[in-house]
Amino acid sequence: MKISIAIDGPAGAGKSTIAKILSDKFNLMYINTGFMYRAVTLFALKNNVQPNDIESLCKLINSLDMKFINNRLIVNDVDVTNEIILPEISKNVSNYAAVPEVREKLVDLQKKISKKYNVIMDGRDIGTVVLKDAPFKFYLNASPEERAKRRFNELINKGIKVEYNNILDDIIKRDYIDTHRKTNPLYKASDAIEIDSSNLTIEQVVNKIYHIINSKL
Ligand code: CDP
Repeated sequence: MKISIAIDGPAGAGKSTIAKILSDKFNLMYINTGFMYRAVTLFALKNNVQPNDIESLCKLINSLDMKFINNRLIVNDVDVTNEIILPEISKNVSNYAAVPEVREKLVDLQKKISKKYNVIMDGRDIGTVVLKDAPFKFYLNASPEERAKRRFNELINKGIKVEYNNILDDIIKRDYIDTHRKTNPLYKASDAIEIDSSNLTIEQVVNKIYHIINSKL
């Protein structure tokens, strides 16, 4: 049976942590689509390509060969996972992700992967665009303060120096751009189940989703 799971939600809602655990439980390939937009941003910044330079952006994306190995993103044979999570990338990614041509190329790639494999994907437009027909859709949410707290702890634990207020600021700005852009903005698909994880542990969220899926399988 072809099963696919879509998880959407704002920055720092816990999507990737939850998706990784569920991918093991249901034996699905985990595709972190945010990593793909982050990789485009990384290479665009490295090559001084601005979000309004559509021609150069398209050329750049065509030169990137992206694949996921053990939940890490490999671009042109180099593991870029540690670089793409840095605050500098977080600060810029929503501007590149709002470009329709960037979205078209990445959505295309994501759809191709989902045709070939059983996947769990997380992002902003998975239940609404990429996996529109997915049998299981979830929308993870939490208060901006809780999300900023989690992201702050995550980065500090990785040895990356950050200020809580900067993280909160970035999350609020990113949420605004992601929900207000013209192409594929973030919103809850009408058939997605919303889970507010503000007062739930990771285990509680995983259990909730696990039981919902199992009861329908
Ligand atoms: O992990 P975090 O919640 O910080 O965000 P992410 O999933 O890594 O996504 C980074 C950014 O990529 C988002 O803020 C969006 O601007 C963009 N994105 C998107 O537009 N569409 C997706 N399907 C996934 C990410």
